[in-house]
Amino acid sequence: MQKLSNILVTGGAGFVGVNFIRYLFERTGFDGRIVNFDALTYAGNPAGLDDLAARGFGSRYMFTKGDIRERLAVEKVFDDNEIDSVVHFAAESHVDRSILGPDDFITTNIIGTFTLLEVARKKWKERDDVLFHHVSTDEVFGSLGDEGYFSEKTPYDPHSPYSASKAGSDHLVRAYHHTFGLPVTVSNCSNNYGPYQFPEKLIPLMIINMMDGKPLPVYGDGRNTRDWLYVEDHASAIWTIMNKAKTGSTYAIGGDNEWRNIELLNKLIKIVAENTRKNPDLIRKTIEFVKDRPGHDRRYAIDSSLLKHDLGWRPSFDFEKGLTKTVEWYLQNLNWVHSIQNGEYKNWYETNYVNRNLHPG
Ligand code: NAD
Ligand code: TYD
Repeated sequence: MQKLSNILVTGGAGFVGVNFIRYLFERTGFDGRIVNFDALTYAGNPAGLDDLAARGFGSRYMFTKGDIRERLAVEKVFDDNEIDSVVHFAAESHVDRSILGPDDFITTNIIGTFTLLEVARKKWKERDDVLFHHVSTDEVFGSLGDEGYFSEKTPYDPHSPYSASKAGSDHLVRAYHHTFGLPVTVSNCSNNYGPYQFPEKLIPLMIINMMDGKPLPVYGDGRNTRDWLYVEDHASAIWTIMNKAKTGSTYAIGGDNEWRNIELLNKLIKIVAENTRKNPDLIRKTIEFVKDRPGHDRRYAIDSSLLKHDLGWRPSFDFEKGLTKTVEWYLQNLNWVHSIQNGEYKNWYETNYVNRNLHPG
């Protein structure tokens, strides 16, 4: 039985990581400790967890700035905290950036995952009460036509440097299970949306551009299709797998919620207009069809029936509810948005640790 009491969350300052940590403290009976280990790249913004201390979770939550590619730093965080489980989110995650410059995708996603696996294997030795959960994406399966779904049985066929690097990391995690007996679980999830998503991804980018009166760039013909899952449902799926799945198993996670990008954008325009004084017809006029992303995958869709039948997981947000909650969150958290736009969010570490002489971990 896995202990899950001293959890190392890598990349816990990113979009899914922040939401996962909040989910564990707020929505589950989790009574252990979390160490958030994050290098604070451009995508890292732990301010979304600042309120945890004031709400009484401070003694069970700790932030450590560190890079998963640095073995000594990873060993130290294991030693200092008696880590018995890892939830591995840390990654370079944006497809467009992987096209412009793949280097960090290869080093962080592949070598960083390898480094974590090596440290876990050496620190944990033959223990079977430990767990390494690897968080991955449905993009490793490539692209679908109009029909069909990805599932746990779909062969890998990654197309972008991002998805190829995630595929490499998935293979390494499974190899460490088969070769060394490391207790692992893996999940491959569809596109997430919700609070705290960095505004380079489709949904937050569009909401913020609508608020700022900027053009809404739609790649290609706008008919590329994604299966969208509210981020808290991704968190609940990961926690379900960690608690209930057999080690060595993989689950596909999705929302049964496919939309063409242009349909999704029209929904967003309606919700933003309803929540502001903006005229939806005027917003619609700012849509600009722009040059397509090179190698743009046409359609992703997930069959998550194994996760539902084996482990009893169900998503709890329908798309209207989740999108409305997301738009409301961005409108109510313009400070968070502005701190990213003006770069102030990059001072978080200095303000919270270095200037106050706190132990940086
Ligand atoms: P994100 O880009 O928002 O956050 C990534 C986090 O990892 C950041 O806080 C960053 O500082 C940190 N990081 C990057 N390189 C690091 C390094 N070398 N060492 C330590 N920390 C580092 O990403 P996200 O959207 O939160 O995605 C998290 C994970 O979930 C990724 O592994 C991604 O592949 C996977 N995933 C995401 C989605 C999605 O829709 N967002 C869907 C399926 C799977
Ligand atoms: P994105 O949020 O980057 O996620 P992913 O590429 O991992 O699926 O993009 C989601 C979809 O939206 C994808 O089909 C590309 C498209 N897209 C646009 O049309 N315009 C944009 O400005 C962005 C960022 C994405």
